[in-house]
Amino acid sequence: MIKTANAQSINEAAKILQNGGLVAMPTETVYGLAANALDGAAVARIFATKSRPAFNPLIIHVPDLEAAQQIALFTPLALEAAHAFWPGPLSLILPRREDCRISDLASAGLPTLAVRIPAHPVALALLRASGLPLAAPSANESGKLSPTTPAHVADTLAGRVDMILAAGSCKVGLESTILDISGAEPVILRPGAITAPDIHAALGVKPCAFNPDGACTENAPKAPGMLLKHYAPDTNLRLRAIDLEPGEALLAFGSERFMGIKGGGAATHLPEHLRRNLSESGDLHEAARNLFAMLKVLDSARPRQIAVMPIPETGLGIAINDRLKRAAQRD
Ligand code: TXA
Ligand code: MG
Repeated sequence: MIKTANAQSINEAAKILQNGGLVAMPTETVYGLAANALDGAAVARIFATKSRPAFNPLIIHVPDLEAAQQIALFTPLALEAAHAFWPGPLSLILPRREDCRISDLASAGLPTLAVRIPAHPVALALLRASGLPLAAPSANESGKLSPTTPAHVADTLAGRVDMILAAGSCKVGLESTILDISGAEPVILRPGAITAPDIHAALGVKPCAFNPDGACTENAPKAPGMLLKHYAPDTNLRLRAIDLEPGEALLAFGSERFMGIKGGGAATHLPEHLRRNLSESGDLHEAARNLFAMLKVLDSARPRQIAVMPIPETGLGIAINDRLKRAAQRD
């Protein structure tokens, strides 16, 4: 079921995909649940397996720019973005080509497609071996935390996918930046490892500020997935905590040495299973890589609540805080 990625298992996975099956594949961001994007029935299996609402479109993964240009239209600016950041953790929203054969279900009937070339040797090998564009949302149940390890995928999807291709933990740890480059000015619909300043530096244009309440124009959601409660653990989160309440677990960032527990005690005395540090040195890349796995560990300890220390709202911190805000949202 879980197979270590190698030439043989990648070929096997490619055959599964060609036959309409589902494969969980590693990418540099998070694990994806892949299916042949040209095959409506295969894409429907993704939605069913994740219990994903059909209005929420999927990202289409391709091995190279040529394959991307076969399905979507690139303006000169979009081409510049592709050259600057692909392969990499950036999904571009582009107009569908008229002759595009990607299943309409995959793009939820929208006139645009989300496309990216993942920077992961296994994902690229699988794309090449299958010869298919692959629709792949994060390999979790809809609304839950995205998986960054094969074990984390197996926790929710074992027995419901045809193969989990295992290649260790994901380098970035957060889902790709989504950049809508289909309109007059580029808009970041989902913050990620490629930041607004990165895009500005590479393209010379400032992308429109990300709107955390879901960027909307003409009453139509621009990234339908961003309107949902998302990335959520079962336990309540308390953000920007500077001390602990009794019964809380701690998700620290930087030094937790001076953090106290209300009524007495120090955070450093919490038992190991109730305490994780995203990055003791305050490194945002390390924190992004650890975020989902640490939330999952603390969640499974079933504390009363998880207190999360403040994360600076700069660089990758913007994407981390975006995921934390979603994780803290209750219905
Ligand atoms: O890093 C990633 O992007 C991972 C890996 C597996 O590549 N995939 C991922 O997919 O995060 P998913 O399905 O969890 O998130 C896709 C997001 C959703 O918020 C969806 O609404 C948005 O992309 N999206 C897809 N197609 C779109 C489109 N045509 N226009 C606007 N938003 C779109
Ligand atoms: Mg997802």
